[in-house]
Amino acid sequence: MKIAFFSAKPYDKTFFNKHNAPYNFELQYWETHLGPHIANAVDEGTEVICAFVNDKLNEEVIDVLAAKGVKIIALRCAGFNNVNLETAKKHGIKVCRVPAYSPEAVAEHAVAMLLTLNRKTHKAYNRVREQNFSLNGLLGFNLHGKTVGVIGTGKIGKAFCNIMLGFGCKVIAYDIYEDQELKDKGIQYLPFKEVLNGASIISLHCPLTADNRYLINKESLAEMPKGVTIINTSRGGLLHTQDVIEALKTGQISYLGIDVYEQEDKLFFKDLSSVIIEDDEIQRLMSFPNVLVTGHQAFFTEDALAQISSITLNSINELIHHLPHKDPSVVLA
Ligand code: NAI
Repeated sequence: MKIAFFSAKPYDKTFFNKHNAPYNFELQYWETHLGPHIANAVDEGTEVICAFVNDKLNEEVIDVLAAKGVKIIALRCAGFNNVNLETAKKHGIKVCRVPAYSPEAVAEHAVAMLLTLNRKTHKAYNRVREQNFSLNGLLGFNLHGKTVGVIGTGKIGKAFCNIMLGFGCKVIAYDIYEDQELKDKGIQYLPFKEVLNGASIISLHCPLTADNRYLINKESLAEMPKGVTIINTSRGGLLHTQDVIEALKTGQISYLGIDVYEQEDKLFFKDLSSVIIEDDEIQRLMSFPNVLVTGHQAFFTEDALAQISSITLNSINELIHHLPHKDPSVVLA
C-alpha cells in the first residue's frame, strides 16, 4: 500500500522509514507542499496521503485525490484547519491526525526561550568565540521567586507549569477549565486580567480560536507590569504583532520569545537566506536585541518525531484494516 508524503523533510524520512518496519508500507516522499498545483501528479492508486501543517487540502485538491483512489488523509500534526473535512466525508475519505505528542517538547522549548532571553547565552556564545570575555550587557535575573503567568494549562501548559514550579517560581494561571492536580501543587487560577497584572513573565499555551485572536494587544499589554517578558509557543495569531512592536519600543515588554508568527506560512520551514523577505513586521521583530524568534521548532525533538511517526503509521494501519481506535480524537472524518 502506497503512502505519499508531502512537505517531506530529511528528518521525516528518517523517522517514518524507521517506524515503517512492522508495516512495510510503500513510502513515497514529496518535498513540495500539497496544493492544487501538484494534486494531479499523485500516482493513480495511491491510497494514503500524509500531510503537514502547511499542506492545503481544500475541496479542489480532495476532489482530485478522491479520483486517484485516495482513501485516507493522515495528518502528521495535531491541527486540521488546512483540511476540508466535509469534502473528505463526501468522498468517504478517512482523515486522521496526531492529537498529542510529547507536550514536554514544547514546554521545554518555551523554557529554553525564556532562559536564552534572560541569561543571553546566545550572545555569550558568539562573544567568547571572539575572545571577548566581558560581561557588560549580559546581566540577567533570577527566575527563582518570580511570578509566572500561564495562559492555558492543557497538556503543554501543565508541563510548563511543572517546570516553572521546579525553578522555584510562583505560578498563576488562567484557563477556562481549572486543573485540580496543578491547584494541589499550589498553582493559583485567577481571572485573565489578574494574571496579566500579577506576572512578570507570561507564557501562552492556549489554542488560537475565533474568540481569542489578538489576546495580546494594546489593551492587554497595558495591564501587564512594565518590563514584562512574553513567550509564545502557541499560535502567532494570539499576538497583535504591531501592538507588540510598539510595546517593545516603549519598554513595556522587556523580552519577547516567539516560536510562532501570524504570517509564518510564508516563511517557516524554508531556507530563505538568499531571499529578500517582504514581511516588514517579522524583519522589525528580528531587529530587536531583546527578541528571540525560532521557526516553529518547539515540537522538534527526537522523542516527539518518534511519537508522530509511530502514531501516524499505527492510525493508518488501523483505518486500512478497520480496527477499533483507542483514542477517538485521532479520527476526524
Ligand atoms: P490542550 O488542548 O491540551 O490545552 C489547551 C488549553 O487551553 C486547554 O486547557 C483549554 O481549556 C485552554 N484554553 C482554550 N481556550 C483558552 C483561552 N481563550 N484562554 C485560556 N485558556 C484557553 O492543547 P496543548 O496540547 O497543550 O497545546 C496548546 C497549543 O500549543 C496548541 O493549541 C498549539 O497552538 C500549540 N502547539 C505548538 C507547537 C509548536 O511546535 N510550537 C506544537 C504543538 C502545539
